[in-house]
Amino acid sequence: MSVEKINKWVNPSRVREKGFNTKGLPVNVKELVKIYSTGKGIEVQALRGVNLYVGEGEAVTIMGPSGSGKTTLLNIIGGVDRPTGGEVIVGDIKVHELSDDLLEKYRLSIVGYVFQAFNLIPVLTAIENVALPMIAFNVPRNTRVARAKWLLEIVGLSDRLYHKPYELSGGQQQRVAIAVALANDPPLILADEPTAELDTENAMNIINLLTKLSIEHGKTVIVSTHDPRMAVRTKKIFRLEDGRIKGEYKPMEITGGVVGREAELSEVLKTKLASVEKEFEELIEKFKKHEISLEEFDRQYTRLKNYIEVLRDLLRSMGH
Ligand SMILES: Nc1ncnc2c1ncn2[C@@H]1O[C@H](COP(=O)(O)OP(=O)(O)OP(=O)(O)O)[C@@H](O)[C@H]1O
Ligand SMILES: [Mg+2]
Repeated sequence: MSVEKINKWVNPSRVREKGFNTKGLPVNVKELVKIYSTGKGIEVQALRGVNLYVGEGEAVTIMGPSGSGKTTLLNIIGGVDRPTGGEVIVGDIKVHELSDDLLEKYRLSIVGYVFQAFNLIPVLTAIENVALPMIAFNVPRNTRVARAKWLLEIVGLSDRLYHKPYELSGGQQQRVAIAVALANDPPLILADEPTAELDTENAMNIINLLTKLSIEHGKTVIVSTHDPRMAVRTKKIFRLEDGRIKGEYKPMEITGGVVGREAELSEVLKTKLASVEKEFEELIEKFKKHEISLEEFDRQYTRLKNYIEVLRDLLRSMGH
């Protein structure tokens, strides 16, 4: 069953010299658990039952403190790592059930992964790095060369085709990494803190590129980031804490659609934070006066507390 489902995707003629022809797939994560066993019998529970749904062609953000499980989650969705329990379903493919062999095909044909460290091959030029996944995918040579050039042009590096990674700046390396991720025209793009190491201008380039993949080309894009400029441009923000999803927020509802200048965005976020904090205080008052049930209090308390955390997180990363 899964062999046929994967083999449908392992089709090099899908990959054209130019353009994106493959639309996104929905991603459904259910009760995902990951336990790492380290030496001396010590276990780390990195994911403790994560549930999330990303619609086809949607761009979403995973936020959360260091160690909350963002990379682990992306690695499992991307087929780089395996879960201890739970399910990952991408389109009609049950990723958690794939054999090693099929998992490799899944990574090659369905996932474009932009890693936290750029993961370029140091001895290869930019164009060779971009062509590499296409070689593994049996894309014909002429198409490979043309597409690698086209992709590097898309990310604004047509004048750096023959540079090796160490001859490129951090921002340029990150753009090559995105071109590599897009080589086989995958329906699913994953990016782990893609703007963490970049200055404002380079970060904005990457953010625009990733959001465009969803909005203009219908790719499904999942990004882990602390970058509010990225987060507010996506459809949903999932807040991960201690291996669990603590809340799901719609940036449109937070910002009213303001994604413009940073100063404007921070004002909108501060106003929202003040109003949510007020709501939080009112809730506590209501509870003290016995105006609401314990269950209702509990539900609202958790929702508002996490909402406040998200807003503080966004503001903190803007230097407030
Ligand atoms: N290979 C591993 N072996 C053991 N423990 C691990 C391994 N990888 C991650 N962990 C642990 O799992 C937890 C989640 O790690 P993960 O890298 O997913 O967090 P993160 O949210 O990506 O953090 P950061 O923001 O710092 O990148 C951490 O407590 C980490 O120490
Ligand atoms: Mg990480």
